[in-house]
Amino acid sequence: MSFDKIIDRRGTHSSKWDKMQDLFGVSPEDGLAMWTADSDYQTAPCVIEAAREAVEHGVFGYSWAYPEYLESIQWWMKTRHNWEIDTDWILTSQGLGNAIALSLDVWSNPGDHIVIFSPVYHEFALKIGKTGRQVRECPLARDGDTYELDLEDAQSRLDGSETMLIWCSPQNPSGRVWTVDELRAVADFAARNDLMLVTDEIHHDLVYPGHTFVPMDVAAPEHRDRTISLTAASKTFNIAGQRTGNMIIPDAKRRAAMKQKLAALDYSPSALGLRIIHAAYSAPGAAWVDEQVAYLEGNRQCFDNQINAIPGIRSLPLQSTYLAWVDFSGTGMSHEEIAARIRDDAKIAVSQGPTFGTGGELFQRFNLATQRARVQDAADRLTEAFSDLQ
Ligand SMILES: Cc1ncc(COP(=O)(O)O)c(C=O)c1O
Repeated sequence: MSFDKIIDRRGTHSSKWDKMQDLFGVSPEDGLAMWTADSDYQTAPCVIEAAREAVEHGVFGYSWAYPEYLESIQWWMKTRHNWEIDTDWILTSQGLGNAIALSLDVWSNPGDHIVIFSPVYHEFALKIGKTGRQVRECPLARDGDTYELDLEDAQSRLDGSETMLIWCSPQNPSGRVWTVDELRAVADFAARNDLMLVTDEIHHDLVYPGHTFVPMDVAAPEHRDRTISLTAASKTFNIAGQRTGNMIIPDAKRRAAMKQKLAALDYSPSALGLRIIHAAYSAPGAAWVDEQVAYLEGNRQCFDNQINAIPGIRSLPLQSTYLAWVDFSGTGMSHEEIAARIRDDAKIAVSQGPTFGTGGELFQRFNLATQRARVQDAADRLTEAFSDLQ
């Protein structure tokens, strides 16, 4: 299977591999890069073919979000997520980090509080801070191997200065796939508190059997006037470096406000990004994603089976995403000691749990979107690094 083919990304200006020494103190010579969320295997053949055609054509001029491109997004949402959208609703951003920053800019003001449910993708809090807003952190409730919403607790933390909620569905880092009832409760919570609802659904395609992702707009269409849905092909097809994402905004007034911001900033999409997303959102692309999910399912089983045999360490069972969320609290060690063992003994660069906010203090996040042999290698290294616990 092509997912097993080892690909050396070192020396290709891959952030994940070529920055691991500077950012994490782990050498790419003998270390493993398991931090930022991109994959080590090649994308779908239909995507590579589209990129090859573009390269052979050899002209890289301007483009625009052309009708067939928008229709391919519409087709994907309908066939993969049972979500009917108008092509008019789709605006193009330079990735979803960018879409979050743009949303903060358009629908909140400096000094506002922005609600997030932690532990959550660390960039939410960073973007809120960098745009001069403040984080209103509402912790999720840990329930054994999973997380639940505690909206009563969340409500008690609000003081009326909040203007936006940034929601993650499926959830990074826990992999939680939210139910329709939970999504409806979140949308109602946003409406009750008059919050703009930004729902980041970037991981929606990588969901494991037994769980079904439901878009917020499908679960709570009555709150469309305050909802902006962010989606992308970037995680699904390992094309994050092409910096192209979707902002799906059904409400005409809201959409006009974002369009004005994009025009003011002179946004125009990457021609190659459009071309390969158009190729990805297709029947061959869908078949490849199904194969990928089956492969990732094997990776997480391989990782979890071995990691969970180490006393005090628990990799939570993932419902979605390729990001293993591992609880080290049972080791009795401090974050510093856990991090040092992973860095210096196992030589693995991982995303540090505390950066995900409250609840992440004694966790680490491991990216499993790599070859099975590397996942096995990582599990062996961790077993050795924590062998004194056996
Ligand atoms: C939940 C979530 N949102 C946004 C992003 C960043 O997306 P982009 O690369 O399109 O900026 C990531 C990347 O890991 C993510 O996990």
